[in-house]
Amino acid sequence: MTNETMLQRINDFANRHDPYPLYAELRSTPVARQEDGAYLVSTYREIKALLHDPRISSDLSHRLPGDPQAAQAEGQPPSFIRMDPPDHDRVRRQAMRPFGPPHTPDRIARLHDEIARVTEGLVNSMEGQSRIDVVEDFAYPLPVSVICRLLGVPREDEHRFRAWADRIVSSTGVRTRGSTFSEDDEQARKEAITEMGVYMAGLLEERRASPTEDLMSGLVHDNGPDGQMAPMELIGSMVLLFIAGHETTVNLITNGMLTLLRYPEAMERLRREPELMPSAVEELLRFEPPVHMLPQRTPLTDIEIAGVTVPKGSPLILVLAAGSRDPGRFADPDHFDPARADNQHFGFGSGIHSCFGAPLARLETQIALSAMIRRLDNPRLAEDPPPYRPSPVLRGPRHLRIECDGVRA
Ligand code: HEM
Repeated sequence: MTNETMLQRINDFANRHDPYPLYAELRSTPVARQEDGAYLVSTYREIKALLHDPRISSDLSHRLPGDPQAAQAEGQPPSFIRMDPPDHDRVRRQAMRPFGPPHTPDRIARLHDEIARVTEGLVNSMEGQSRIDVVEDFAYPLPVSVICRLLGVPREDEHRFRAWADRIVSSTGVRTRGSTFSEDDEQARKEAITEMGVYMAGLLEERRASPTEDLMSGLVHDNGPDGQMAPMELIGSMVLLFIAGHETTVNLITNGMLTLLRYPEAMERLRREPELMPSAVEELLRFEPPVHMLPQRTPLTDIEIAGVTVPKGSPLILVLAAGSRDPGRFADPDHFDPARADNQHFGFGSGIHSCFGAPLARLETQIALSAMIRRLDNPRLAEDPPPYRPSPVLRGPRHLRIECDGVRA
């Protein structure tokens, strides 16, 4: 038996490949105070209530002085995922105008052909290979290419985004007193965000002078009733869209392949009934979600939840992946059922911060997984579990090595 707190055990890399037994243990105390003063919330009902509670802030400046998570966020461009109303609602509305309905209803649908083209191209390039790394060869290049097209980043600069994303995401975690993120990781993360911000600022200026059809031009020129975002808000929103939309989608596609290879009967069923894919992707968001927890909430006042008083300013960590497997909410929650009907998972969060890019993430993953299962002949895992990336928050394999007998036309 160990003296580690539950949060330390979740942070422990040795548990990365299967944190679900820890989550089951955690749910027996829906709101669990950790030694360092953080509160972990793991049951469906409590998470849902907190995500919809206006007394819970996403702005880390409300943390108690000396909080490590708040220190980490200092000096970064403002992004609406870390804002509260009314600023959050305004910037989100401003960002939504060129992105989706009602003002730009067809932006995501228009990306369909581009996603399908990039997907088929990546699968074509696997021809002649019997061993494939799903992450390197497929799941990683696809979203970076799609998000760069959406935002308007020139193709020749895509590789710079890959490098920035790597540095930012590898140090995304839960900062607690005593957690093991090195100064170097921290420095690399901050530098990458700054470099990306400077790059985005340059591109925004170009689009201001000569607009194109991309989202960036829309953000700079499409003034709604809220007017224009402030310059730093524009940069912060671009960086946010890139970061929030990239690694998460890589992990959903990779977790998707991993799960389908672990459940061959589900893969077979999807081959026979391709119309089930949208429902299978929802089940993946519940069963193997890319975002395991939201480590950045803070109560603005003392709040009582499940009989526990969480003091104002305390770190509140919502363990979404535990809530999405809560047997009090989902029947047989540890079973992967691609046709599950009642599936209000937390894969995209809930409430005012719920995922902005969900329609794009869904479309991309549906196209990607459909292509892989249609075209790979007899795919099978070469190692299980695969090696994981370090983060317990944005959780996913670093590599997913598979074997197959060929690639169908
Ligand atoms: C499988 C892929 C994805 C997953 C699992 C995912 C998950 C999430 C989750 C859980 C949140 C809630 C955060 C919170 O409550 O603090 C969120 C918010 C957000 N997501 Fe996603 N996301 C994905 C893809 C995308 C894409 C493709 C984009 C952009 C194109 C995007 C943009 C955002 C933004 C901007 C927010 C903040 C919304 C707000 O604060 O109002 N996400 N996402």
